[in-house]
Amino acid sequence: MQPIANTQQADAWNGHEGAHWANNPDRYDSLNGGFNDALFEAAAIGERDRVLDIGCGTGQTTRLAARRAALGQAVGIDISVPMVERARAIAAEEGIANAVFEQGDAQVHSFPSGHYHAAVSRGGVMFFADHIAAFTNIGGALRPGGRLTFICPQLPSPEADSARIFAPVNALIRQPSPAQRGMVSLSDPARIHEVLTTAGFTEVTVTSVEGSVDWGRTADEAVDFYFAMGPVRFNLDGVHEEVVGDARERVREALRPYETPDGVRLRGAVWLATATRP
Ligand SMILES: C[S@@+](CC[C@H](N)C(=O)[O-])C[C@H]1O[C@@H](n2cnc3c(N)ncnc32)[C@H](O)[C@@H]1O
Repeated sequence: MQPIANTQQADAWNGHEGAHWANNPDRYDSLNGGFNDALFEAAAIGERDRVLDIGCGTGQTTRLAARRAALGQAVGIDISVPMVERARAIAAEEGIANAVFEQGDAQVHSFPSGHYHAAVSRGGVMFFADHIAAFTNIGGALRPGGRLTFICPQLPSPEADSARIFAPVNALIRQPSPAQRGMVSLSDPARIHEVLTTAGFTEVTVTSVEGSVDWGRTADEAVDFYFAMGPVRFNLDGVHEEVVGDARERVREALRPYETPDGVRLRGAVWLATATRP
């Protein structure tokens, strides 16, 4: 039995918020997949590499890493049982034998020491109660010279299209949902530098990367998905249904102009961080 330090996050990602991700892998991958190219270009995974994917969720980035490390292996670790189970099922369906998944808390998981050539993460490293302990643990899993590459959210810009589109809901948001707590813990590049350097990494870089965020095939689909997401559901629970209905219609109409033959697409920006284990 692997230890769990982040028990609140474990509860959240093993509860209905994690279940929503596990039940909608394609939707979440469309939402976040616009940053995959930047992540993997920076990670520069080699054919024989052993790769660790931290907070791998339902495993799209683990599978992409495994395809790049065709003669190596990609290991996804995640605190969420339903997401790990889904990740295993999708990798099996796709016949990707060198992608394996483990359930555990990356902050305290006993990784094999000095084993991995690379560690990657698409938005799975912000939720640690103790970032320095977590990145020290992850660094210990890397070989000397091993590379860490991750993306994490920027603070939402008030000028972004998404701020205007989702404003009717943002006005009703009281607090982050349990799974969302920590989401913006690494949204300050100076904090990323500080955490990674203190955890023993060198050659730390943080750059802004823009990408397309795909919310669904139509505005109707996008609005249904958005209102079912954990952080929104959590905050709208108990709000009068007329108020919710009004917000839903306003978001739907605001999304209409963004419908394209390729789906409802908004621009987004994340931080891309790279670092080396000396
Ligand atoms: C925003 S989701 C991203 C999932 C996936 N990387 C993706 O891009 O679809 C964050 C993930 O981090 C996982 N997570 C949160 N805290 C964790 C921890 N301490 N150790 C391992 N995984 C964790 C969650 O269960 C969740 O799957």
